Amino acid sequence: MGIEQRAFGRTGVDVSAIGFGAWAIGGSWGEVSDEAARAALNAALDAGVTFIDTADVYGDGRSERLIRAVLAERQGARPMVATKAGRRLSPHVADGYTADNLQAFVDRSRANLGVETLDLLQLHCPPTDVYYRPEVFTALDRLVEAGSIARYGVSVEKVEEGLKAIEYAGVASVQIIYNIFRQRPASLFLAEAKRRGVAVIARVPLASGLLTGKMRADTRFAPGTHRAFNRHGEAFDVGETFSGVPYEVALAAVEKIRALLPQGVPMAQFALRWILMESAISTVIPGARNVAQAQSNSAASALLPITDEVMQALRELYLHDIAPYVHQRW
Ligand SMILES: NC(=O)c1ccc[n+]([C@@H]2O[C@H](COP(=O)([O-])OP(=O)(O)OC[C@H]3O[C@@H](n4cnc5c(N)ncnc54)[C@H](OP(=O)(O)O)[C@@H]3O)[C@@H](O)[C@H]2O)c1
Repeated sequence: MGIEQRAFGRTGVDVSAIGFGAWAIGGSWGEVSDEAARAALNAALDAGVTFIDTADVYGDGRSERLIRAVLAERQGARPMVATKAGRRLSPHVADGYTADNLQAFVDRSRANLGVETLDLLQLHCPPTDVYYRPEVFTALDRLVEAGSIARYGVSVEKVEEGLKAIEYAGVASVQIIYNIFRQRPASLFLAEAKRRGVAVIARVPLASGLLTGKMRADTRFAPGTHRAFNRHGEAFDVGETFSGVPYEVALAAVEKIRALLPQGVPMAQFALRWILMESAISTVIPGARNVAQAQSNSAASALLPITDEVMQALRELYLHDIAPYVHQRW
């Protein structure tokens, strides 16, 4: 069975409900060879993935260039490739989000991806202030008019940023962390995005791997990878690493999830299927570092819907065990 297709908001484009997150094949996740990265992406595309998420800073452009190389060797329809801009700014401040800087970032991504027009440009978790600067969104409108980008969206840290961003008529998509350990977007944001026809991209769906059920108290993460260096938010928002849930708290919750799994269903697939229970989600973008992960993740949309009883149990688990650590922060 192929991957379920969903409307990408009001854009008129359909994408696979399971996409491919290309951060792990770019950098910050430990060594992934070019060969392994290409194989993982090819496996996802072979399985029917038609949405790829990357950024100009993943491996400083390596992720974008790998995607270009893989797509150049394939026949058939091109997937939608979403990239991001803003994080090359140093310091990363709202004042840096000028029309000239955005143009330069976009031109570099066009060159890396080998395209005239980017399918989707996302602001890459900009400072909150950026959402209150209409001129930034006017600059993005100009990039659409010039044909440098087909459409644009935002990647946000907080629900409030997403709600503010979708007030701008040109915002086609919002990327946000949404997973069993991050349920707050479900209460207001997803309904509001759906009402406005804004596509929602669910990132960090496996809570950086925790929701695969494979991690243990003594699991060691290689130095130089964000699960080691950003455990407490040393380099970027701590919510991007393990969804901001303290590791031991998360491990205990994972054991409760294990008890709820249908027979024979891997936890990673179950966690992705949980996200797809929300119709406001256009696509989920698990990161995959190898062929087996890409194939397994791509199969998640074919799982049976999760029962009401189990959905309720996961809601209660979130409210009691996880929400106190994350709910008010993001
Ligand atoms: N600010 C932003 O806009 C932002 C921030 C973060 C992420 N993202 C996007 O969201 C995507 C996904 O987030 P993420 O990669 O941080 O986290 P994630 O998808 O929650 O976790 C990915 C990791 O889980 C493990 N994994 C994946 N599939 C598996 C499977 N089937 N079985 C076992 N383990 C599996 C892999 O790591 P191991 O094998 O090493 O365990 C993989 O690197 C990124 O690739 C990126 O495109 C965007």
